[in-house]
Amino acid sequence: MKKKSICLMFVFLTNFGFSQTDIPTDFLPKEFHKNRREILRSKMPKNSVAVLFSNPIRNRANDVDYVFHQDPNFYYLTGLREPNSLLVLFSEKQTDELGNIYDEILYIQKRDRYAEMWNGKRLGIEGAKNKLGFLTVKKLNDFIVDKINFKKFDKVFVQEFKDDYRDLTGTDIFDLVKSFKINIGYDPNLLLLKSKINVDFLKSSLTSMREIKTIEEIALLTKAIRISSVGQIEVMKAMKPHMSEAEIQGIHEFVYKKYGVEYEGYPSIVGAGNNGCILHYIENNKTKVGNNLVLMDLGAEYRGYTADITRTIPANGKFTKEQKEIYDLVLEAQEVGISKYRIGTSMVQPDQVMRKIINQGLYKLGIIKSIDEKHKYFPHGSIHHIGLDVHDPGNYHDFEENMLVTIEPGIYIPKGSNCDQKYWGIAIRIEDDILITKNGPMNLSIGVPKSTNDIEKMMAKKSILDQFILPNLNE
Ligand code: GLY
Ligand code: MN
Ligand code: MN
Repeated sequence: MKKKSICLMFVFLTNFGFSQTDIPTDFLPKEFHKNRREILRSKMPKNSVAVLFSNPIRNRANDVDYVFHQDPNFYYLTGLREPNSLLVLFSEKQTDELGNIYDEILYIQKRDRYAEMWNGKRLGIEGAKNKLGFLTVKKLNDFIVDKINFKKFDKVFVQEFKDDYRDLTGTDIFDLVKSFKINIGYDPNLLLLKSKINVDFLKSSLTSMREIKTIEEIALLTKAIRISSVGQIEVMKAMKPHMSEAEIQGIHEFVYKKYGVEYEGYPSIVGAGNNGCILHYIENNKTKVGNNLVLMDLGAEYRGYTADITRTIPANGKFTKEQKEIYDLVLEAQEVGISKYRIGTSMVQPDQVMRKIINQGLYKLGIIKSIDEKHKYFPHGSIHHIGLDVHDPGNYHDFEENMLVTIEPGIYIPKGSNCDQKYWGIAIRIEDDILITKNGPMNLSIGVPKSTNDIEKMMAKKSILDQFILPNLNE
């Protein structure tokens, strides 16, 4: 980890009136998480306690688990990337039997030489104190030993249940703990708390906090977006009709890894021709993209923060007349849409404007029969926050300064549609990541070519991957 100002980052930040010259671009400082906890605590009513859980480990098959990914709210508040952990936040200072004063406790898995030999290093109590800045850190099992007496609090806030756990969990902390597979034993007294537990407070408080990005978060998101942009550009140069969808996905993700990215922010979408009409197409198993358009929706997740960029390009480097007609319509809508991303404007307005433009255009091309047709060919929303989640939480009222949101109009005309056959199989989405600033919308993915002309020019460039020829295993 390094803490230094990167020149471009500095230029970028000064453009926004930020005066800091030392914003880390590859980690979140522990003060960031501490401040988040303080803000959350300040929102908590008197005499209340909040309990947040790390994500569970999920088994993939037999001895293999899915790659662990921390729960974003838990990470936001702690900076901890380990499972089997609990954060307990108190609205007021508490005093234990020994006279120690605290207002938060982090419960974590203890150091374990054997487990660490197999699965990697754990922070342990001292590590969590030093690296994460918590004053009170305990072993997970102490959660029950401590017998935090929830009954004495007027309100108990528990992190929202995950949808996929809802059926399993019911609404009490015992079931919740059990279903999260946290091995802390069982305190039947907790069952008595049912009536006091509130799962909405944390959700709404954290949504309001997370929808406005801090300068540290903007620095990391900018980096994730720049890395993802390089991926799109390198693919534009490397793309050939004989390539497979998976191979194209691999080039994006190879670029991510070169920059030290840990994860993709969501499963990569690379769909050629009609496959692009499947909105969340993640099979990516067409073995030759051919002379089709290729829709590529990918985002690097860097230090927890994810980009979300889509470009649609012709595999052979040249748009056909029909592809260009549809492409230019999506682009026109997007450009007008972006101009509405201004502080104080309703967040539904750009979507409405874009749908109108797209309907007018489709009507002119004879693809829809009525200008009021309800978006058969543009069947998804066109805006969401990005951050620790690709669909980051948000209230979706008016745009505010330092929101970071996508804009992603699209037109998808599957084979067999009720229109001229020449348009069948054309699927186009153009998605950029926009920072809302006092000076208007700032498109952080602007570096990726977007007009048909600029895309064709970029695709005409040589790629280093042109020389990357592997042995033919069928010979
Ligand atoms: N990549 C998912 C989305 O654009 O919302
Ligand atoms: Mn998106
Ligand atoms: Mn996307």
